[in-house]
Amino acid sequence: MALPKDLEVPFTQFACIGTGFSGIALGATIQRWYNIPTSSIQFFDSQPCVGGTWTINQYPGAACDVPSALYSFSFERNPNWTRFLPPHDELRAYLTRVAEKYNLIPRMKFNAKVTKAEWIPDRTNPRWRLTTLDLPTNTTSHHDCQFLFSGSGQFNSPRPLDVPGIESFQGPVIHSARWDHSIPLKDKKVVIFGNGCTAAQIVPSILPETAHLTQIVRSKHWIYPPVDAKVSPLTKKLLASTPGATWLQRFIVYYLADKDWVGFLLTPSGAKFRQKRKEMAERYMKTTAPEKYHALLVPEFEIGCKRRVFDSGYLECLHSDKITLTNQTPTAILPNGVEMAGGSTIEADVLVLANGFETNTPTTLLPVHGIAPSTLQSHWSSDYPGPEAYNCTSLHNFPNFFLLWGPNTATGHTSAVMAIENAVNFALRVIKPCLEGKCSVVDVTEQAEKEYVERMQEALQKTVFTSETCDSWYTARDKKTGRMVWNGMTYPWSQARYWWDCLWVRRRDFVYSGPATGRSVIVKKRRSGLWFAAFAVMALGGLLAWVDRNPDSRLALALAGSRFGVVLPVLRTCGLGLLGRKGLNWR
Ligand SMILES: Cc1cc2nc3c(=O)[nH]c(=O)nc-3n(C[C@H](O)[C@H](O)[C@H](O)COP(=O)(O)OP(=O)(O)OC[C@H]3O[C@@H](n4cnc5c(N)ncnc54)[C@H](O)[C@@H]3O)c2cc1C
Ligand SMILES: NC(=O)c1ccc[n+]([C@@H]2O[C@H](COP(=O)([O-])OP(=O)(O)OC[C@H]3O[C@@H](n4cnc5c(N)ncnc54)[C@H](OP(=O)(O)O)[C@@H]3O)[C@@H](O)[C@H]2O)c1
Repeated sequence: MALPKDLEVPFTQFACIGTGFSGIALGATIQRWYNIPTSSIQFFDSQPCVGGTWTINQYPGAACDVPSALYSFSFERNPNWTRFLPPHDELRAYLTRVAEKYNLIPRMKFNAKVTKAEWIPDRTNPRWRLTTLDLPTNTTSHHDCQFLFSGSGQFNSPRPLDVPGIESFQGPVIHSARWDHSIPLKDKKVVIFGNGCTAAQIVPSILPETAHLTQIVRSKHWIYPPVDAKVSPLTKKLLASTPGATWLQRFIVYYLADKDWVGFLLTPSGAKFRQKRKEMAERYMKTTAPEKYHALLVPEFEIGCKRRVFDSGYLECLHSDKITLTNQTPTAILPNGVEMAGGSTIEADVLVLANGFETNTPTTLLPVHGIAPSTLQSHWSSDYPGPEAYNCTSLHNFPNFFLLWGPNTATGHTSAVMAIENAVNFALRVIKPCLEGKCSVVDVTEQAEKEYVERMQEALQKTVFTSETCDSWYTARDKKTGRMVWNGMTYPWSQARYWWDCLWVRRRDFVYSGPATGRSVIVKKRRSGLWFAAFAVMALGGLLAWVDRNPDSRLALALAGSRFGVVLPVLRTCGLGLLGRKGLNWR
């Protein structure tokens, strides 16, 4: 072990909160890049098993909405997905397989909730101390580490229902993220709150067994035609046996998804894009859903304001006699149902909450205490009005601490896994001097964080998320004026830009300090034959970064247009492939 340790408290060089995509990406990458053994990392998760989101969300119909060719690790491509948008159990099985392959499971402590993380500024042994609660035994213990990663996700706190009286309801109440399959829905009268991505998957899945389903709809969502399909045995065979086929498939999906980023911008090309998509979605919604529900369903706000919903049988099932949609306001939960504005009661045996998650609020955060008196809570309420981080990963006064899939990394149009991999890669590039034994502590400067965040919020002001008709969990608004005050959720630029920004560490933005540990990274040999390709890709990356900043230039429009936009993104993603390839130490 690199640093002297307090023998009372177990120590690992790395610790990670969470065992979802983020935790697994970290555990695999420290091995792939630096040959760091798994014994150097300890994971903690309050869930009983690996998988994060895909263990937590087991509601009927749960599946991803980005094709798994892209919604998976670039270093663990899988030719055997059964569908383009596989269900939750297949995603969980994939994550378990990857965790097993990299021997991470023995390093994961489950049913262990991290209740506190505290920076110990010891001169000879600066480190993080975690306090963990073993949930089955209700006992606390400590764990020390040099580098702390939060892979704790963004959708872990179910939003409480904002209708009074829930405790008086006599039947079961199920939140989508706490689904209990032992609760029977067969021949029951069910009321479901919400109509976002989650509800659109639950409704068609449970409707056939219920006696009647009433859906309480408060806001609207743009719904796109389905993109899911079974993957044929022949396709699987081709993907498995043709060299580069899974890469090509990934490039195509990446390109098709990421080019939609232009639709978030308040530019003429963005407006044109949104208009086209709006016409397409409106046509689809109106031709698929019953006419009596068009006014309830079809949004007035712009495409892009909220994550689009890919239809998975939702609109079609609204033709059933067994379902009723209402946009009346629920005023109270009664023992036997829901009281609506106007005084009517909807009877219910079971209530299903698909009302989303707490976001943009520091109250649900991990209690992380950095250099005193900074806590995550104070950093994101007094230093800044909401969640933020330098390059979405680092915070000043929180040395050796990195957020994976942190603030502003959510995307409304493409895979979170890309952002997660990029954040992991960036953090491992940042700490490389310490891994080489030149230092033991790294902290981003206050100035760098401030400037980055200003740039981020300024760029977000030029996106559809700010528009007044665009209310979503992405943004926090002033209750009186309705103006967007903070967006700590979405990324305003393309994912190519995030990849580019994660490729380079501006060392001047970080302060490296602490005792040199003498540990040196076992770096794998470079494959010099790939240097040329890497430089070519960097040049392309530079071009794309320029395009990102000048989205209305002719060149940008040409690249975004499908006629000219094929070759470059393919090359760009080829480059991603080369740079991420095992053995190439481009970091
Ligand atoms: C239903 C659903 C569907 C989604 N579908 C898509 C999709 O199709 N495409 C897409 O790009 N994104 C999707 N997302 C977003 C998704 O959350 C991310 O894609 C990704 O799974 C996040 O991975 P993660 O590892 O960062 O976090 P998570 O998967 O959320 O894992 C975080 C883990 O940290 C643990 N944890 C949190 N706090 C603590 C603590 N204090 N102590 C111990 N453990 C803790 C949690 O128990 C959890 O296991 C979806 C989200 C939901 C809710
Ligand atoms: N792979 C997938 O397809 C998939 C599936 C599920 C989730 N996800 C991810 O998870 C995120 C969250 O999705 P989500 O659907 O769980 O949450 P969501 O997008 O926040 O949707 C929740 C919906 O419930 C509504 N609601 C809240 N309280 C209500 C009430 N009292 N009465 C009626 N309606 C109420 C909300 O309305 P207001 O907006 O007015 O509050 C909102 O429309 C998504 O954006 C996506 O990133 C992805």
